[in-house]
Amino acid sequence: MTALDIYFGDNLEVLRALPDASVDLIYTDPPFNTGRLQQRTRLRTVRDANGDRVGFQGRRYATLTVGSMAFADAFDDFLAMLEPRLAEMKRLLKPAGSLFLHLDYREVHYCKVLLDAIFGRSSFINEIIWSYDYGGRPKSRWPAKHDNILWYAVTPDDYAFNYDEIDRIPYMAPGLVGQEKAARGKTPTDVWWQTIVPTAGKERTGYPTQKPLGIVERIVRVHSRPGDLLLDPFAGSGTLGEAAVRLGRRAVLIDNNPAALNVMSRRLAFATPTWHGYDPAAAQPGSSLSAGSERLVET
Ligand SMILES: C[S@@+](CC[C@H](N)C(=O)[O-])C[C@H]1O[C@@H](n2cnc3c(N)ncnc32)[C@H](O)[C@@H]1O
Repeated sequence: MTALDIYFGDNLEVLRALPDASVDLIYTDPPFNTGRLQQRTRLRTVRDANGDRVGFQGRRYATLTVGSMAFADAFDDFLAMLEPRLAEMKRLLKPAGSLFLHLDYREVHYCKVLLDAIFGRSSFINEIIWSYDYGGRPKSRWPAKHDNILWYAVTPDDYAFNYDEIDRIPYMAPGLVGQEKAARGKTPTDVWWQTIVPTAGKERTGYPTQKPLGIVERIVRVHSRPGDLLLDPFAGSGTLGEAAVRLGRRAVLIDNNPAALNVMSRRLAFATPTWHGYDPAAAQPGSSLSAGSERLVET
């Protein structure tokens, strides 16, 4: 394995082929909406002389729609998709390894219950709130301006938490804490303020769900060490790969969308990755950033 390995394909297949207890840190950000918004409609037939169906002994029946559960079905799909992949991630983590699962407010509670079942409740260490301030503000409810990142450690009292690597933040009222403390700043809490990837910034790749390097770098610095192996099975534009390589870690990235591989081939060329199932030479410069079968939710 080289410093950076990038796989094209369904992450479940790739994860299954990786060895047990080989990964130090997983940060991943699965797409909530699988794009298969199924409309599961429950039907019931009742006796009706004018019905459209003919049954035993020529009796006629009408078909009634009892209910439709499009949203619930889409959600069930998400958890069913995620569960075997999370179980593989747990298998791949070393005893002192951690998982950071990036979610949003609609799915976080269901995923917390799922992860409690897979890792055990005591492995839950923190829920990090990434708070940002961008986009429209509805007038009908509080504008939702945060994402949720769940941290699970395989071994609840043995994990990487490099306190000295935490970037300190300014006090809200520096005048009240004295010059020395004010100059040093304070430790951030589990609420992290960070702008979204700036529209015109150098960091922006054009990939719709790209997460800010600032968030991912903090996780990499604090929860892994140089030389460690990191994994993102829903890699998208490769934010974890960039943070990992720039901070001297190794990484495995997986995505099943050719557009993501295309973006990564440009973004991560500096790290000369080893490609699996994909030829970066075939990538079209600037092509099809939104291509692929998925409809991704901008977060
Ligand atoms: C929300 S995006 C990740 C964005 C990423 N964190 C970034 O900063 O760019 C989720 C990614 O998961 C990928 N994906 C979805 N299902 C997958 C699967 N079964 N196997 C591999 N990748 C998958 C999608 O193509 C998409 O690029």
